[in-house]
Amino acid sequence: MSREKDFQVFSDCHQHDGITLRRAKQVDKGAIWQVHIRSIREVCKTHYSEKELRMWTEVLKPDRYEEQINKGPFYVAVENETIIAFGNLNKKSGEIEALYVGPEYLRRGVGRKILQTLENEALDSGLKRLCLTSSLNAVGFYEGAGYRPQRQKRWLLPFEMVVCVTMTKKIA
Ligand SMILES: CC(C)(COP(=O)(O)OP(=O)(O)OC[C@H]1O[C@@H](n2cnc3c(N)ncnc32)[C@H](O)[C@@H]1OP(=O)(O)O)[C@@H](O)C(=O)NCCC(=O)NCCS
Repeated sequence: MSREKDFQVFSDCHQHDGITLRRAKQVDKGAIWQVHIRSIREVCKTHYSEKELRMWTEVLKPDRYEEQINKGPFYVAVENETIIAFGNLNKKSGEIEALYVGPEYLRRGVGRKILQTLENEALDSGLKRLCLTSSLNAVGFYEGAGYRPQRQKRWLLPFEMVVCVTMTKKIA
């Protein structure tokens, strides 16, 4: 892995002084889990019920990220050594599997930066199209990044169905 890909500075965004992107390590699993839970609870609550959010977060556990981190690319955004956001790409399926920003860091370009980094990784791997399943609250964000909605999808959690939207983007 090149040093350049391992550690990227937000040099193109002045307000991101101090926020960096780096590859996730196994030791980050607990912090990633915390960001994931808080982002779902605080950010997705605009479009999902309390019960849906509870079911959604209950199925998450830190070990869930182990395989994804091993396979990569899996990035974390870090400020003062604290993980504030993360995202990963499954190169085999061409899917952006996750992209979550901590509630205090929204609308500061962090989500876009992680998405662009994952798209660059996809291009480097020869992928021509990316897909993802977006929560309802994030559809506008992905549309702004060039993704097109395909269809609504029901994601089965224990005792609850959560509605999401499948989206795709041609990258090459
Ligand atoms: C969706 C998410 C990743 C966006 O992250 P973010 O860091 O706040 O987004 P950015 O600041 O990089 O925004 C980039 C652009 O998208 C826009 N944008 C951000 N969130 C948006 C939203 N929810 N709806 C519409 N536009 C949005 C921004 O205004 C900005 O637009 P601009 O280029 O015109 O300035 C974040 O809201 C999040 O973590 N949501 C909860 C988890 C989630 O739903 N993840 C999606 C995977 S299921």
